Amino acid sequence: MSKYINFLDLGAQPLANNYLKKNDLNKKEIKYRLKVGIDMDNKLVSINKPLSSKMMFNNNYPYRSSMSKTMIHSFKNLAKIIKKQFKPKKILEIGSNDGTFIKNFSKKVAIGIEPCSNVEKITKKEGYDTFPLYWDQKTAKKILSKRGKVDLIYSANTISHIEDLNEVFKAINILLKDKGIIILEDPSLLECLKRNTYDQFYNEHIYVFSLIGIENILKKHNLEVFNIQNLKIHGGSNRYFIKKINHRIAINPSVKINRKKEVKYGLKRLSSYISFASRVKKSKKKFQDLFKKIKSQNKRIIGYGVTAKSTTILNYCKIGRDYISYFVDTTLDKQNKYTPGTKIPIYKYNNINDKNIDFVFLGAWNFKDEILKKEKKFVKQGGRFITHTPYPKII
Ligand code: TYD
Repeated sequence: MSKYINFLDLGAQPLANNYLKKNDLNKKEIKYRLKVGIDMDNKLVSINKPLSSKMMFNNNYPYRSSMSKTMIHSFKNLAKIIKKQFKPKKILEIGSNDGTFIKNFSKKVAIGIEPCSNVEKITKKEGYDTFPLYWDQKTAKKILSKRGKVDLIYSANTISHIEDLNEVFKAINILLKDKGIIILEDPSLLECLKRNTYDQFYNEHIYVFSLIGIENILKKHNLEVFNIQNLKIHGGSNRYFIKKINHRIAINPSVKINRKKEVKYGLKRLSSYISFASRVKKSKKKFQDLFKKIKSQNKRIIGYGVTAKSTTILNYCKIGRDYISYFVDTTLDKQNKYTPGTKIPIYKYNNINDKNIDFVFLGAWNFKDEILKKEKKFVKQGGRFITHTPYPKII
């Protein structure tokens, strides 16, 4: 047993993506205690008691990768790099969602795994070879028998959702060619701590990875990181390029640089996590004070972009309908529903140029640049955005 130490308690939380229908409003919601800790042996930061995958990823899953231009561009650019640099004949995406990434490849080349069958159906209908399955050794063997080994495996914001990392990499080793490449992309623990984005933790985000943590798991599976890119996506993510140890590719200096950066910040020391937790507590108080102050001036606040992340913030800080009149969001499956726990109505996004809106809480703060660009008129009219990162403030 590895040594696991709790350092942060984010209180009772509902399931982050469980948007409520009107007739759910009087029913009791499922809640769990969101605590975050670190496995000191592997330096892996995770939530305390993960829920079962089936409870979270099923045919009701509302998230769509295609809802943000930032994600569409990012996937498109990466696909270009992959084609040029690795020229894969067969590529597999774990957690292919609505196909925003695999659609950059031909139907012959791309294979998708997506356990949420409501989204998996979208790509299947378009003729892509996708499977409504969870990623494990059984799935890998199934794909192996149908399609053979693959040259490249990509996964963005998915591996961090799977509790059993050893199973993940065992399955990858079944399907990946000896000279195959793995590219993983997930929020960076270093950025999370630096920016106080404690909302990266919720029931689906079981882990927030550091390079150090990822390397500790990979070495058990004869895999290693040979390049790493720091991305702006989702408030700071890392893109890890991984290979089998026996495959000879030079290790890019970025790996050493990032490892050093993480060690220097203190990601190996428990005290760094304890001070993060204390900053989070202060952030809560400041966030509540900010909302109270705005409300005391009789100003109207709405929310923009309902995210799993905002579920953590709103429930932890206890900001509900008293403060936020409603949310707007472009995702069809979230519209005309209510936010988990806080029960704030969610409406279809039209525009926010209503003169009665004074402040907009940026639930989708990770798309701040994209949203601020789109909402220039609102800002010009005197409207203001509220964010909680790196500390609660009006922007
Ligand atoms: P995201 O941050 O990707 O979600 P999560 O925390 O759940 O992983 O979700 C962004 C949400 O914001 C998504 O529901 C779409 C919405 N959105 C808008 O409504 N308008 C926009 O311009 C953008 C960029 C996102």
